[in-house]
Amino acid sequence: MKKQWWHDKVAYQIYPKSFYDSNGDGIGDLPGIISKLDYLKDLGVDILWLSPIYKSPLADEGYDIADYYSIDPRFGTMEDMERLIAEAKKRDMYILMDLVVNHCSDEHEWFRKAVQDPDGKYGNFFYIEDREEGKLPCNWRSYFGGPVWEPLPGRPDKQYLHVFHKKQPDLNWENPEVRREVYKNINWWLDKGLGGFRIDAIINIKKKLPFCDYPADREDGLSCIDNMLAEAKGVGEFLGEMARETFRPHNAFTVGEVFNEKKEEIKDFIGENGYFSTMFDFAETVYGKSPKGWYDSSAFLTPEEYKSCIFAAQEKIGDVGMISNIIENHDEPRGVSHYILPEDLCDESKKLLAGVYFMLRGLPFIYQGQEIGMENTVFQSIEDVDDVSTLDEYRVALNAGLGEEEALKKVAAFSRDNARTPMQWNTGKNAGFTEGTPWLRTNPNYLRINVEAQEKDENSVLAFYKKLIALRKSEEYKETVVYGKLVPFMEQEKNLIGFTREGDKKLLVLANFQKEPRQVALPSEMEKLLLNNLKDLDLKDGKINMGAYQFIVLELR
Ligand code: GLC
Ligand code: CA
Repeated sequence: MKKQWWHDKVAYQIYPKSFYDSNGDGIGDLPGIISKLDYLKDLGVDILWLSPIYKSPLADEGYDIADYYSIDPRFGTMEDMERLIAEAKKRDMYILMDLVVNHCSDEHEWFRKAVQDPDGKYGNFFYIEDREEGKLPCNWRSYFGGPVWEPLPGRPDKQYLHVFHKKQPDLNWENPEVRREVYKNINWWLDKGLGGFRIDAIINIKKKLPFCDYPADREDGLSCIDNMLAEAKGVGEFLGEMARETFRPHNAFTVGEVFNEKKEEIKDFIGENGYFSTMFDFAETVYGKSPKGWYDSSAFLTPEEYKSCIFAAQEKIGDVGMISNIIENHDEPRGVSHYILPEDLCDESKKLLAGVYFMLRGLPFIYQGQEIGMENTVFQSIEDVDDVSTLDEYRVALNAGLGEEEALKKVAAFSRDNARTPMQWNTGKNAGFTEGTPWLRTNPNYLRINVEAQEKDENSVLAFYKKLIALRKSEEYKETVVYGKLVPFMEQEKNLIGFTREGDKKLLVLANFQKEPRQVALPSEMEKLLLNNLKDLDLKDGKINMGAYQFIVLELR
């Protein structure tokens, strides 16, 4: 694999609305991010992905863009953005924006013009069809519930397509003018000195046309979009064109939100001449999700399930490209609450989870707050929920016959709001996030879990993340941690996640993913202990007695 500048970096996702509020309006903003750059630099991260900050009605929290060329005033100004890019550069850091081009907002000028004149130029920027009472062009279910079709405002004889929320009309990528507009915008941003993009929901840009029905999979008579996507061919032509016209000439870094890739397509996506630099591994985030909805899905993964997902993903990628690893993001529950049983949630288990995914082959992404072990929040009632997706899943649960309390409990385990509560900086008012009233309720556990306390504690989760990052970047082990081959070790051993990383050194990673102690015989002699989340290492005669949730990395001779 050809080496790239970003391979040995560490990335960090910022959810701007909840990161740091500089002016007391309860909404995080760009000056807030700038004021925390030194914190991020000290943590050791290099690449910062910002969830969308463009002008937006925030129907889907910024993933509904009304103007691709301006910053939403709630987040700041274009000058703030330019300052952020410059300040990041001074610190050898890179800024990524979120590229949301499967759809825009219904408040975008293009859509407004399309509504005025559906048969004109801008009508062809979207998927607009004639409307007949009682019959839809196709029975696809939107990701946020209900059919993908919505009557065009003021034009009851027409309807438009939205695979997400009805305030997110899909852009018609078959129209070359749309693609040209998108590329123009990407280049405009890259010319400003942006490092690149995280690419949102990109597989959806290719629709299976002409519209047709798929077998209904719920009582609503609709069919999950995945069924259509599985048959839509040719997304690669769009992605290849986009890479040629924009990313490649700028040598930009890109990470794709790709869900349904087949093994043989990985090379096209992230191989040497791939459409993107990298893409996320979502194997473990989709595991256990029921086609019926969140209410029917498993709220936790067992260590065995988690292990099978990560090993399968590693095997699938091999050294075709460099995957990106996460345990959470703004669409997922907190990783520590999803992959660790509640009764076992403690600093040791959080460090173990951090260690396991960080030592996989790939680019690690940290989601804001993950580095201090932030957990899922508590929802007292459905009124506490902001996220459109959670509200839909709650309705689905009620329709399936669950009571209100039960439905809330079920969706709370998956709610995207878990990851969107304000960042917990200190024990002050609103966890130090804002002087005003936070837009989303702060997780009440901030007195226990916050940055300030962990910065003073050398055994904190935060301190452990810094050690993981330092190991990844150390001159001695970098080559092996970044490029070394991953070989599973004692894979059949229940609740043990073990693997070696083999490069110019040989490292052994061992995670005792359970409360019960266990003994592990080393495959060869230990050269050096590199990381340990417990105080001591009990090694005798080539055997290690591992304690509850012990995680270690050692160099083998
Ligand atoms: C992606 C985003 C998610 C958003 C959706 C629609 O999945 O991560 O937050 O709701 O796309 O843009
Ligand atoms: Ca603010």
